[in-house]
Amino acid sequence: MAQASQQASSATGPRGLQLLGNGTARELGCRVLQSPLAGVSDRIFRQLVRRWAPEALLFTEMVNATSLELGHGTQKVDELALEAGPIGVQLFDHRPAAMADAARRAEAAGAYLIDINMGCPVKKIAKKGGGSGLIKDPDLAARIVETVAAAVQVPVTVKTRLGWCDGSDAISWCRRLEAAGAQLLTLHGRTREQGFKGRADWDAIAAVKRTLRIPLVANGDINTPADALACLETTGADGVMVGRGTMGAPWLVGQIAAALAGEPVAPTPGPAERLALAAEQLQALVAAKGDHGLLIARKHMGWLCTGFTGAPQLRHNLMRAPTPADALALLEEASAGLVQGSTDGQPRRISSSEK
Ligand SMILES: Cc1cc2nc3c(=O)[nH]c(=O)nc-3n(C[C@H](O)[C@H](O)[C@H](O)COP(=O)(O)O)c2cc1C
Repeated sequence: MAQASQQASSATGPRGLQLLGNGTARELGCRVLQSPLAGVSDRIFRQLVRRWAPEALLFTEMVNATSLELGHGTQKVDELALEAGPIGVQLFDHRPAAMADAARRAEAAGAYLIDINMGCPVKKIAKKGGGSGLIKDPDLAARIVETVAAAVQVPVTVKTRLGWCDGSDAISWCRRLEAAGAQLLTLHGRTREQGFKGRADWDAIAAVKRTLRIPLVANGDINTPADALACLETTGADGVMVGRGTMGAPWLVGQIAAALAGEPVAPTPGPAERLALAAEQLQALVAAKGDHGLLIARKHMGWLCTGFTGAPQLRHNLMRAPTPADALALLEEASAGLVQGSTDGQPRRISSSEK
């Protein structure tokens, strides 16, 4: 059964969220969490997010427990030791024993907590019974939570959705996860059928929040500090998790953290800083992964290189740059062009068609 976690009295109160764990307690000092994002939230991306958000809980990309067992994807877990600040490891699978083994490995590598993915809509994963597939099998979902919670000392949390095709069972589903021993839930306000379409239903998250004793983190459509404050107000949640809004905006989690703490919000980086970040991320990815790093860097460069004259052409060229050196040269050229193209040393204001 669940160990009741000590809940803060208000979502923006001074105390952090206490998660007792099973011997190793954790306290989240920051009410905004960075989503696990497959193909995006790798170590290098997290290092950028961390620059603006030193205390926030960040997550690995989702890691398949069976793959770990077979020796694949181990780097995603083993490299945690290289990073500062709290990092949760998110695992997915439909096999309780494999999940428990993976959780033990992640804990040994330094995971701040273990999160279980029960929301991924990808067909291949859900069909096997992992990710959102577990919403259709609450008995198995509960067994996975119990088995993982018994295997590690750190807290075990679950990230899920409102339901499979409608949200009518959201409350009983989330209460089942709580009863199985999840110490915190992150609830994405969409069903599996919705995927990423439509608006996230913050009212449905509020209804679940009212029935749980464990902390609830609201997720879906939070893209600015104002969204985060509005979401906390609407849902009464204990925190917010931000996903797509951080793609090309590694500063967003830090901005939201500051807003929730009532502190000054750092300015959004302008074009010159974004180009420098794109170059830094490209170089770090290539240093870590060789030429494959360029393929991963492409999407990040595409997200970061916006908001200045010539940005569309630059993105077009970056997507076709054959080598990391070519991509880097394009970024440097664009950076030099920013200053030359203005009359006062500042980038010129642009129309939306130029973005
Ligand atoms: C590219 C991409 C990758 C994602 N990968 C994961 C993942 O690995 N694990 C997970 O629980 N959710 C994953 N998600 C879902 C997000 O974490 C988040 O729940 C969803 O995008 C809604 O939040 P948002 O509106 O802030 O983006 C992913 C979403 C996207 C767009």
